[in-house]
Amino acid sequence: MCGIFAYLNYLVPKQRKEILEILIKGLKRLEYRGYDSAGVAIDGDNELDSTKVNTIRIIKKRGKVKALDEEIYAQEDLNLDVEYDMHIGIAHTRWATHGVPSALNSHPQRSDENNEFVVIHNGIVTNYKDIKKFLESKNYEFESETDTEVIAKLIKYLYDTHETKDVTFRELVEDVVQQLEGAFALVFKSVHFPGEAVATRRGSPLLVGIAAKNKFSTDHIPISYRDNRGHHDSGITLERSDSLVGFQVVGDNKEVEYYFASDASAIIEHTNRVIYLEDNDVAAVKDGGLSIHRIKRETGVAQSREVHTLKMEIQQLMKGNFSTFMQKEIFEQPESVTNTMRGRLNFENNTVLLGGLKDHLSEIRRCRRLLFIACGTSFHSAVATRQLMEELTELPVMVELASDFLDRKTPVFRDDVCFFISQSGETADTLMALRYCTERGSLTVGITNTVGSSISRDTQCGVHINAGPEIGVASTKAYTSQFIALVMFALMMSEDRLSMQARRTEIFNALERLPGLVKEVLKMDDEIHKLAQELYQQKSILIMGRGFNYSTCLEGALKIKELCYLHSEGILAGELKHGPLALVDKTMPVIMIIMKDNTYLKCQNALQQVVARGGRPILICEKGDNENQQYGSRVLEMPQNIDCLQGILNVIPLQLLAFHIAVLRGYDVDCPRNLAKSVTVE
Ligand code: F6R
Repeated sequence: MCGIFAYLNYLVPKQRKEILEILIKGLKRLEYRGYDSAGVAIDGDNELDSTKVNTIRIIKKRGKVKALDEEIYAQEDLNLDVEYDMHIGIAHTRWATHGVPSALNSHPQRSDENNEFVVIHNGIVTNYKDIKKFLESKNYEFESETDTEVIAKLIKYLYDTHETKDVTFRELVEDVVQQLEGAFALVFKSVHFPGEAVATRRGSPLLVGIAAKNKFSTDHIPISYRDNRGHHDSGITLERSDSLVGFQVVGDNKEVEYYFASDASAIIEHTNRVIYLEDNDVAAVKDGGLSIHRIKRETGVAQSREVHTLKMEIQQLMKGNFSTFMQKEIFEQPESVTNTMRGRLNFENNTVLLGGLKDHLSEIRRCRRLLFIACGTSFHSAVATRQLMEELTELPVMVELASDFLDRKTPVFRDDVCFFISQSGETADTLMALRYCTERGSLTVGITNTVGSSISRDTQCGVHINAGPEIGVASTKAYTSQFIALVMFALMMSEDRLSMQARRTEIFNALERLPGLVKEVLKMDDEIHKLAQELYQQKSILIMGRGFNYSTCLEGALKIKELCYLHSEGILAGELKHGPLALVDKTMPVIMIIMKDNTYLKCQNALQQVVARGGRPILICEKGDNENQQYGSRVLEMPQNIDCLQGILNVIPLQLLAFHIAVLRGYDVDCPRNLAKSVTVE
């Protein structure tokens, strides 16, 4: 849902072309968040004194970041060699919410034709119509259809009408955001404040990256506050020379570079030192110093922000020998499932240690029920593990789509334990559901793949799935890792239950075998490619199964829908006769998952019902199961694991099938139309 990136160099001379390269590269890393248009704002030409910039140049283009890059190089009057000791560049890649994808609607949005204030935004301003009406009454004219434009114009209005001109950039931004409702991460730049940038967030992610040759003065940045009357807390001086300044470089060498970004993947090649901003933080860079402020003094808010060291490696963000990130991520699953389990499972004594949950375990064991709340693929991982969770914990388990959970105003109690499963940790619906449950006093648990994400920070405890960065918009390795994380939780919950020990031992053995079996399944790629060649011109594909594999059907169908733009439906085989059977004839492709688990006979019944209607289903069955092969037009024989983990293996051929069909249809696998990786709007 839009990617934000900004680069600020202080006493680090950089040519304009280098600055633009950094901005474009940052946007490319964030492209998975939105890719219908992109833009940058850089300092304008002022070659006499490049540190006193008094113009801003905006370049924007409809389409992907590559199109913006080409547009930049097509600007004949843009001197790429001009050098800046200090420069602020801001950049944005958009996923349209208000206004069609176009250069005009893309960001940065500006205050006026002189670009006095420019802003990039991720989120939605819900009260933008009221602000727009107000500004129109003050003779402001709007050029775009976006909600964001009101922000750029409002800050100019506040600047122009301020009694004195000694207002700081940061104060103006604080005044603006107090007028905004909705969700936002914002970065501002202004001709009135050369060399300064201000960033803030509420509901959308934003982090600051810091790269300096010398050591940092601190790894905890103290926070200053504004008091209720709008004055600064006199106890804290905001000047850079003061020891309480948030951040400064120690020693004589004051060279420093800052980055603002929606996520860490955009900055990791420059620095591994980051500060995750919290809601209502305002981060200001001025004269090479960074300070972080709160809009209001609040009790219970941490007094400092920690400078974290990222563990992510740049190689994790490269495609390597694969054609797309999605393909790479499918093939990474032997390692990603291993990483999810690493250091957490003891196969010798069948114990699990999930460090982020251990202090809350007894509270969780006493709970009334478990609620698993998520969207899309993450929701499917909850569906996939629900049966095992009920079996091992003997607790009622509810699985909830976050949006529906909120629409229903679902009753939640203090003795409920609510899990929020999210790859990105930023999905707006899931985040809103988290806030809803927090207000009602239940224990909140995050299952995320993104360290430092809003969900991982705002939950009381949780598990990182450690699948590594997932860049392809369609989730693959995160699903299998979420699946395993939830299985590990069920194992941890049942550790002291004697009656469960035999089952637990089987599951431990199965988890140990899992990475090897995943590797084996990936060898089926050629076979699945052939199947894709047979299917890619179809208009619809049905996927049926039940029990532990119902979620596999839902997830497979979602992958096909989102990547191949063709209709696909995951159907519970038990429901076949209650409606979906009417769809079946000899032309409809039907994939049927038939495993030798406790649903085997029932799945065979469903198969017979399909065959009786002239259907020639594609069968996904266990290796060596010859009982049903005669009925299949094709048979994919799967290596066998324990019933409750078989879904991890069975989903892989469906991931591969969706991938190959999309490629054969000529679609962009990593960036499916109309979608974005991190859905930060409701
Ligand atoms: C589908 C997909 C989406 C996400 C959903 C939730 O391939 O990726 O359905 O699963 O948008 O996202 P997270 O897990 O980031 O909360």
